[in-house]
Amino acid sequence: MQTKIMLQESEIPTKWYNIIPDLPEQLPPPINPGTGQPIGPEDLAPIFPMELIKQEVSSERWIEIPDDIIEAYKIYRPTPLHRAHRLEKALKTNCRIYFKDESVSPPGSHKPNTAIAQAYYNMKEGVRRISTETGAGQWGCSIAFACNIFGLSCTVYMVKVSFEQKPYRKILMQTWGADVHASPTNLTNAGKKILEQDPDSPGSLGIAISEAVEDAATHEDTKYSLGSVLNHVLLHQTVIGLETKKQLEIAGEKPDVLIGCVGGGSNFGGLVFPFVPDKLKGQEIRFIGVEPTACPTLTKGSYTYDFGDTVGLTPLVKMHTLGHSFVPPGIHAGGLRYHGDAPLLSLLVKNKVIDAVAYPQTPVFEAAMLFAKTEGILPAPETSHAIKCAIDEAKKNDGSCIVFNLSGHGNFDLAAYDAYLSGNLEDYEYSEDKIREAIAQIPKF
Ligand SMILES: Cc1ncc(COP(=O)(O)O)c(C=O)c1O
Repeated sequence: MQTKIMLQESEIPTKWYNIIPDLPEQLPPPINPGTGQPIGPEDLAPIFPMELIKQEVSSERWIEIPDDIIEAYKIYRPTPLHRAHRLEKALKTNCRIYFKDESVSPPGSHKPNTAIAQAYYNMKEGVRRISTETGAGQWGCSIAFACNIFGLSCTVYMVKVSFEQKPYRKILMQTWGADVHASPTNLTNAGKKILEQDPDSPGSLGIAISEAVEDAATHEDTKYSLGSVLNHVLLHQTVIGLETKKQLEIAGEKPDVLIGCVGGGSNFGGLVFPFVPDKLKGQEIRFIGVEPTACPTLTKGSYTYDFGDTVGLTPLVKMHTLGHSFVPPGIHAGGLRYHGDAPLLSLLVKNKVIDAVAYPQTPVFEAAMLFAKTEGILPAPETSHAIKCAIDEAKKNDGSCIVFNLSGHGNFDLAAYDAYLSGNLEDYEYSEDKIREAIAQIPKF
């Protein structure tokens, strides 16, 4: 009985897959909120290196991965595809459940797949420092890890609620050389503005993005780096799905359903996008993005132009959003607390190529416990959303082949497991009023 399907280092993908030319309709362009016109490369140049801007708008289906990036990927790639025999047995299912184990990277998640690429292109263009935000701390660790590989300084604005829940993530970032601040801070105008309105603000990804973007825009030697949402981030993550495709072939499987949790959409897009052309050509395959009921962007949000950050510094992008001023409750899956979603993913949800479901955190932790007890790996709270959905799918569909992305481990999330084990986990439904209020504040275009 094969449990791990492994690839050789020589089988690490040498090209990323760009889904843009295969989309069922054209991706609406980002808009400059000042002019109402589509933005050009010159608008993005103050905060991103040119190579990433080119990738953001590229219509080439395949984009070459530079050798230095592949060498850095070799630290942890290719990642194994596991058959979850023990979970299957516990569920008494005749489904075949597989998970792609992205938790084996040193920072513990899929995030280095793009962090390494972004740090590399910044280094190549002479950038000295990267500023970024982090929710759960996974992204902050990944960019700190990647900056360290390529000799860059790194400043991380970490959402305050996670900073407090996860002190060890902060220490890991510092170990790799990053400066870490609890956001909102008094270091930026964006942070000061939020603190004036709410001195006890728990922070949010949107607020932390505002701070990191402002930092990059106001420092000559610094560029900004985003861990999700943007086209180039999802592009870099396609190494996950490309490897998974090969591994499923080796296992002699055709997947019926692919599942991933969705914060901004990068691990989900990374797993699923390489399979989308198969579906568009008629193959029977379902894709399910899983989000928390506390932040139900795909299931309850509007598909409209909105700011990517809270304060309104970014271009407007067309996406599923709960409104840029929406601050989700402090659930333990900090990386899923984002008011928007990747425009690429949003477009595919709108076109019904991709489905979405939402779960409250208690059943998600129940699923995480079962997974930890059967497969041994303690999953990240974000990832556990995908596990819950995979388990539900196995209960509903006899004999199918279910594949989910194990986007990260939860070894630094023990406070969340403690809350669950001691019965102190709260479930938050989304607040219909708060969402309505936040959606009303979206600028009209
Ligand atoms: C382990 C893990 N999974 C998933 C996510 C969600 O991000 P994305 O939707 O971009 O994959 C995060 C974000 O921090 C994360 O840390």
